[in-house]
Amino acid sequence: MLQVTDIHTWYGDSYILQGVSLEVKDGTCVVLLGRNGMGKTTTIRSIMGLAPPRQGSIVFNGNELVGMPTHKIARLGIGLIPQGRLIFQSLSVVENLKMAARPAGKKDPWTLDKVFTVFPKLAERRKNKGNLLSGGEQQMLTIARALMTNPDLLLFDEPSEGLAPVVVDEVFRVIGELKKAGESILLVEQDFGMAMSVADYAYIMSRGAVVYESAPEQLINDEHAKATHLGVGE
Ligand SMILES: Nc1ncnc2c1ncn2[C@@H]1O[C@H](COP(=O)(O)OP(=O)(O)OP(=O)(O)O)[C@@H](O)[C@H]1O
Ligand SMILES: [Mg+2]
Repeated sequence: MLQVTDIHTWYGDSYILQGVSLEVKDGTCVVLLGRNGMGKTTTIRSIMGLAPPRQGSIVFNGNELVGMPTHKIARLGIGLIPQGRLIFQSLSVVENLKMAARPAGKKDPWTLDKVFTVFPKLAERRKNKGNLLSGGEQQMLTIARALMTNPDLLLFDEPSEGLAPVVVDEVFRVIGELKKAGESILLVEQDFGMAMSVADYAYIMSRGAVVYESAPEQLINDEHAKATHLGVGE
């Protein structure tokens, strides 16, 4: 459903993505790993058209995204959960969700009720304003808002960053539920164990390129790759 082929992305004069290729198949969860500053967020931003590649191709459900403006890319059905939380602080939980809602062509679309079954804590706080939510609840609301747009593909950029361990568990419980619901997911994540718990396939980036790719079982057992590219087990 998403095929990224040899993209090259610059920030001004800085040559950041130096030929990145990856694929997300329908209904799978693909994890993008790598140390800080290696180009994970830039890859997500390239897909969304926020940092358009100068070269290469990104095909989503048969549409070429390179050269397309961000709002059109979003409208094709890609939902972004960006690094850091993004909600309306002065709106309630329900208002935040209604603002994001978009009718979907797909069967069994995400609705307020369906979202609240996945996020029972948000249901409890439905009348609370965004600024009265905890960091974890704000992250949940950010994810819930993306679901309300009924995307075909969800892009997560480090959803566990800065959250307490119990909230991280909650975020990954939700990602597990989204997988069960058949959602397609590209997930950037630094927590190796959590990432492996949901991954169907994994890529590792280093210095603007994909340097490793495999099924999660293979990566879990590859001490060399983990030590070299991720610093896991050092
Ligand atoms: N707006 C920008 N202008 C110039 N350089 C940037 C900009 N944003 C990021 N970079 C540089 O691009 C490189 C890749 O950054 P990117 O944010 O994609 O990394 P990342 O893998 O997401 O890292 P992290 O794990 O810290 O989020 C880094 O060297 C960073 O300094
Ligand atoms: Mg990043």
